Amino acid sequence: MEKRELMYVGKAKKVYATDDKDLCIFEYKDDATAFNGLKKGSFEGKGIINNRMANFIFRLLEKKGVKTHLVEELSDRETLVKKVDIIPLEVIVRNVAAGSFTKRYAVEEGTPFKEPTLEYSYKNDDLGDPLINSYHAVALGIATRQELDEIAKIAFTVNDALKEIFLNIGIKLIDFKIEVGKTSDGQIVLADEISPDTCRLWDAETNKKLDKDRFRLDLGEFGDVYREVWGRLTEYYK
Ligand code: TMP
Repeated sequence: MEKRELMYVGKAKKVYATDDKDLCIFEYKDDATAFNGLKKGSFEGKGIINNRMANFIFRLLEKKGVKTHLVEELSDRETLVKKVDIIPLEVIVRNVAAGSFTKRYAVEEGTPFKEPTLEYSYKNDDLGDPLINSYHAVALGIATRQELDEIAKIAFTVNDALKEIFLNIGIKLIDFKIEVGKTSDGQIVLADEISPDTCRLWDAETNKKLDKDRFRLDLGEFGDVYREVWGRLTEYYK
């Protein structure tokens, strides 16, 4: 597989074309941003952990029947993936109140929900990724009703699987964001990444935050907690 031109530079990774029009290569950087890119940081090796962890989790999800873009991990920071048209929605599932939910609805952080919630943000940096409902998404032509039903099914399947994966290593899955895309043959698959950048993960015993909130909220130990989660995963699933 030949790596060709740089197609896209994201906040945490670069995407390259390959000599196959249906495949591209992700290259994970050590960068982190928050608040729509206003806050910037990094730690050495973050890209390696996120690359490996995302692929590891995607493989476990595939065993549970979730279709993903993953083809092959190429190196510490590089992964071959199916080229997809990303549906411009951040698909967010929550099990426990945290983050923007606590602010929007004045709910105390840590309040467990009776049922998981599902919400969408419209992926649009100029607008600051506003919350959007499924009717808006259909009205704007972002996705069809049928596609949204499929996306919701994927999101809840991922939630069930991820909750179990993390509970096995003493971690509560508070919430997470996924992105989905359409392959050249029209299939909707899980894309982008799942990592401590895209999930809220709390230690099951102590509720210590083991995710990107350590960077967003300046809590320290940013790299330490990513290494901790990855260490627990590889220890348990080796
Ligand atoms: P929120 O509480 O800030 O809305 O975030 C909900 C979840 O989505 C949380 O696990 C963090 C994740 N997330 C992203 O992955 N990317 C983003 O740009 C934002 C705002 C949140």
